[in-house]
Amino acid sequence: MFTIAQITDLHITTSDDASNQIRNADRLRQVLASINALRPRPVAIIATGDLVDRGRAEEYEALKAILTAIDLPIYLGVGNHDNRLAALSEFSAPNIETDPNGFIQYVREFDNYRLIMCDTLDAGRETGAFCEHRAEWLHKTLTDRPATPTLIALHHPPIMSGIRWMDPAPRAEWIDRLEQVISQHSQVCAITSGHLHRAFVRRFANSLVTVSPATSIQLTLDLTPVDLRVPDGREILNEEPPGFMVHIFDAGEITSHFCVGGPWASAAHYAHPFIKS
Ligand SMILES: [Fe+2]
Ligand SMILES: [Fe+2]
Repeated sequence: MFTIAQITDLHITTSDDASNQIRNADRLRQVLASINALRPRPVAIIATGDLVDRGRAEEYEALKAILTAIDLPIYLGVGNHDNRLAALSEFSAPNIETDPNGFIQYVREFDNYRLIMCDTLDAGRETGAFCEHRAEWLHKTLTDRPATPTLIALHHPPIMSGIRWMDPAPRAEWIDRLEQVISQHSQVCAITSGHLHRAFVRRFANSLVTVSPATSIQLTLDLTPVDLRVPDGREILNEEPPGFMVHIFDAGEITSHFCVGGPWASAAHYAHPFIKS
């Protein structure tokens, strides 16, 4: 048994908006401290995109400085707020790697399991993408090890949350393409993502998609209808505590926990035997 922690939507920034900058950095530090305190220690951390807020080189530099707080291998993916070249100028393998087409897609092997990081960034757009080049790489990569239980990590969840203003278009082309690939490979135990800044799950392609809460701010759970052309003043983001996930790899399956970062008061201790004679 071993675990991998997941962080997402760090939105580290060096913008002049000091409150945004300090808050996002502080919340990431809080989550890293919680991950550091986990027992057993995870074997790695995956970060599923929106690593920084504006895709600037100095933001990746600031992120790198914060990540020195944790002594674990970290594997980075990109989201719609990232810039591939800027990320690659600050980080290199084994933290990040490109496929032959320049997309940030790569595999990491752990005992008898695999992690596949995929790239759903469509530069200049909020929405996700998964072009034929990326799909072909994923299909080939999955074909290489058909019997190894696999976790796929990507930024954009290919599922509906019910929060309309953030959801992808129903039957978006990139989602169909991704579904077509994954549904051919039964070793994909789980698919994990970010982008929505909120924890939820939904079935997808004979597997399950989990969405990690953000280390930065969270999305407000407002399921009322919204007219995307008419701002109505509703709250859309809030400062619920920062979150992360812990994926347990055991007995050929993956169990995923949603976690809240931060120091919490103890409520009870194991002081008496659980099994009484
Ligand atoms: Fe984000
Ligand atoms: Fe995003």
